[in-house]
Amino acid sequence: MTCRILAVETSCDETSAAVVEDGRRILSNVVSSQMDTHKRFGGVVPEVASRKHVETITCIIEASLEEANMRMNELSAIAVTQGPGLVGSLLVGVVAAKALALSHGLPFIGVHHIAGHIYANQLSGELRFPLIALVVSGGHTEIIHMEQDGSFKRLGQTRDDAVGEAYDKVARALSLPYPGGPHVDRLALEADGEIPMPRAWLESDSYDFSFSGLKSAVLNALNQASMRKQTLDPAHVANGFQQSVIDVLTEKALRAVKNTGAEQLVVAGGVAANRGLRARLEEVCGKEGIRLAIPPLSLCTDNAAMIGAAAYLKWERQCFTSLDMKADPMLTLEQWAHVQ
Ligand code: KG4
Ligand code: ZN
Repeated sequence: MTCRILAVETSCDETSAAVVEDGRRILSNVVSSQMDTHKRFGGVVPEVASRKHVETITCIIEASLEEANMRMNELSAIAVTQGPGLVGSLLVGVVAAKALALSHGLPFIGVHHIAGHIYANQLSGELRFPLIALVVSGGHTEIIHMEQDGSFKRLGQTRDDAVGEAYDKVARALSLPYPGGPHVDRLALEADGEIPMPRAWLESDSYDFSFSGLKSAVLNALNQASMRKQTLDPAHVANGFQQSVIDVLTEKALRAVKNTGAEQLVVAGGVAANRGLRARLEEVCGKEGIRLAIPPLSLCTDNAAMIGAAAYLKWERQCFTSLDMKADPMLTLEQWAHVQ
């Protein structure tokens, strides 16, 4: 039986709804970004984000059904991001999805946001287990070992800032618009030189990350230059920062692949859109004969299709979520995977 899941994602500042068939085929994926609203504040304002979700959620769900040419009675289940994320934002999607599931008598599936980012790769290719997932987003930087479909073991994570957060802070210091990741990426690629920046390797066998020292090094370089009444080339600063980030992410991800004997390296999250990171990973994985999966750009940042792809995991096991489910801003992958 074909499974068609209507998925909803509202964990941060994108309101999105999608219809996904058998966890692999996108029938629709409508994303409404609040970026322009948050731009003038230089970051996401949680209260504003929740209000915007409330304003748009109904239209986005309707648009996703229309685009998929699907009626509610043709759906198999309703899925929604349960967490992690901003609690007020999550709540809007959770309430809308529960209401639809209840009123149409459809099974309900809560989904972990990071599982969604990882399973976005299933919308553009096959996942091969065991795999290593390098998760790089605005809120997370993690290396996850998946021995099989649906099992998640975190090998390492950031001890301070997430990599996307560091990108956005560095962009702000360079007076670039929010969200800054794509702007820093563009500047770094245009640069004809770089200001050398430190690399936080931590203990030699650690898969953890730290980006706050790097962020401070960038801010110090800019402050010192301005005290000396000099200006640094922003492209050189962006490039120095980006090279440090790419070196550390690539080295640790490849070490994890080798040490666990993984079949594939999967990259997930908004920072997977980074052109410098994609090019480096393609180069080293090509040289080392490692299978690499990175989603197309439109599936790297937050979207509901990835939630529909991860929800299929639960559908296959007929493992549905009670309508008592609460939005959980601190939900861990391990907790989510183990709940029956
Ligand atoms: O996964 P995502 O859409 O939201 C979270 O779940 O956090 O990731 C958003 C993050 C932002 O910090 C944004 O600056 C970063 O992804 N990002 C990038 C690029 N595109 C988006 N960072 C570096 N280079 C990019 N090209
Ligand atoms: Zn995300």
